[in-house]
Amino acid sequence: MDGNGRWAQSRGLDRSAGHRKGMDAAYDCAVACRAAGVSHLSLFAFSTDNWQRPAAEVKELIALFDRGMRENFSRIVADDLRIRFIGDLSGFPQAVRRTIGKIEAETADNGALHLQIALNYSGKWDVAEAVRRLADTGHDLSAATEEQIASELATAGCPELDLLIRTSGELRLSNFMLWQAAYAELYFTEVLWPDFGAAELQAALADYARRERRYGRVEAR
Ligand code: FPP
Repeated sequence: MDGNGRWAQSRGLDRSAGHRKGMDAAYDCAVACRAAGVSHLSLFAFSTDNWQRPAAEVKELIALFDRGMRENFSRIVADDLRIRFIGDLSGFPQAVRRTIGKIEAETADNGALHLQIALNYSGKWDVAEAVRRLADTGHDLSAATEEQIASELATAGCPELDLLIRTSGELRLSNFMLWQAAYAELYFTEVLWPDFGAAELQAALADYARRERRYGRVEAR
């Protein structure tokens, strides 16, 4: 969800104003995905590398996540969103983890949209964790299969990525779901995340619908 900072700075505002607007955009995007019939949406909210930002910004972001979840709680339940958090949550304050646990438990039976929010997540961390879990459960790593590794990823049970959207003109994966994105269709837009609304989502989905997905195969003629 790139571009919050630039969105704010271009208006002479603090970066935190961009993050607040980014939070609203995330909610609107989830609702628009649900309306469009998307079954799973994953949002990269905080990467393992984001700890390197100034301490005040990190603190503000964590407070914003916590406040956003608490303030939108009844809306999330009513909108039938099923929320799961993925990533190493051990680095977050106890109170935030409590909010996360509550929101996951209260939305576990919702089903219109599976919304995964990646917090303190990175693709490399995810694969390394999966391998560590296999080792911890006594698997022979020298014979580990792709299926076994996939079954231990944070996204186990979810489909692999169909479409990966990158906002604000960034042309890289930034360590997001590296395994799960193996055959993802990539969509890049110059639109900054806070401006990414229902119309931009529709444009991305329409572009995706025109792609020919071959998974390395040659089409029969
Ligand atoms: C990138 O903008 C955004 C982030 C580091 C994460 C913050 C995301 C949100 C507040 C949105 C929603 C959150 C949830 C929990 C759904 P940037 O700061 O990198 O912007 P820049 O590239 O313009 O500097």
